[in-house]
Amino acid sequence: VLIEKVDTPFLLVDPVKATRNASRMRERIAALGTGLRPHVKTAKSLDVAAIMFDGGVGPITVSTLREAEAFGQAGYTDIVYAVGIASHKLARVAALRERGVDLVVLLDTVDQATAVAEASKRSGIRIPALIEIDCDGGRGGIAPDDPLLPSLARVLADGGAEPRGVLTHAGESYFCRTEDELVAAAEGERAAAVRAADHLRGAGFDCPVVSVGSTPTALYARDLSGVTEVRAGNYVFFDLVMAGIGVCGVEDIALSVVTTVIGHRPDRGWILTDGGWMATSGDRGTAGQPVDQGYGLVADVHGRIYPDLLMADANQEHGVLRMRDGSTAPLPDVPVDTQLRILPNHACATAAQYDRYHVLGPVGDLQAVWPRIQGW
Ligand SMILES: Cc1ncc(COP(=O)(O)O)c(C=O)c1O
Repeated sequence: VLIEKVDTPFLLVDPVKATRNASRMRERIAALGTGLRPHVKTAKSLDVAAIMFDGGVGPITVSTLREAEAFGQAGYTDIVYAVGIASHKLARVAALRERGVDLVVLLDTVDQATAVAEASKRSGIRIPALIEIDCDGGRGGIAPDDPLLPSLARVLADGGAEPRGVLTHAGESYFCRTEDELVAAAEGERAAAVRAADHLRGAGFDCPVVSVGSTPTALYARDLSGVTEVRAGNYVFFDLVMAGIGVCGVEDIALSVVTTVIGHRPDRGWILTDGGWMATSGDRGTAGQPVDQGYGLVADVHGRIYPDLLMADANQEHGVLRMRDGSTAPLPDVPVDTQLRILPNHACATAAQYDRYHVLGPVGDLQAVWPRIQGW
């Protein structure tokens, strides 16, 4: 199928770049001697997950039970649900475990541990849980030395559930600016997880799982001693935020939104497209970075980036392209009906606007359509 034949906006994935990104991560984590548990929340796609594993069904991380159910159905049996559990979701967790999926939940409060223990008793299924550790003051989790840590494990174990280990995510690594900061974030993440695991072991628990990960820390960890698995997901596509941190180049970004030029405002130096914030998402993740990329960088339909051309503004179904402030480059001459690619700030958010991927073929054509898992 010719790209030009598909109605815009649509989500385009370049499988060659995704495959290269996936190999890079697999090789790095293998070289560090630990396991990789890719996060499927970015791609939410069985087809993209196959690229992340180079075939086969390995361990995965999910961000919704819908992902767990879809991947479980497809034969993935080793799944961590890495968002804190709410008690009303435990019936679905138990149902998946009953079907042979080793689904593990995440928690950091006594109420959650009690609910998991009660659900285990009620269903007769021993539900495993990881305890979330806060390694950088970012979001959820408890400190590695918090006395609550062994107490949570005790509530789980005594109540008929299974304390399986600890999990941490260095979300603050997204704000690193230098290689030294990235290396330090990775080591901080590792050290917090290992300290928490030692704390649990000191209290008499096994702690077989010591789980860390984010794309920046996974790519900059120098040593992962004591860690049993790394979770990362964004890396399969990368995006402008990751390029702004410096963990990839813009040429590595495997995801874009194809839009069409629908008008010009020469008096304002604007090119208008049919891709507004519905098409790209409203994510402005590069706004806080040294180089603000607006709603995205602009490339031609073949992926060649126009220097300094930005999607600077967005309405629901209109994108406004203009030159970056201070640029001396001329506005490119792109007639109405020309297709353009927008490289996203945040791949997870942009992809979430779509129910499918269009897959780039070897000669710039479209070779397939891959569905995305939506909802919760
Ligand atoms: C708990 C958890 N683990 C792992 C990841 C993967 O990190 P990244 O998106 O940087 O690959 C995320 C992403 O938000 C996460 O929330």
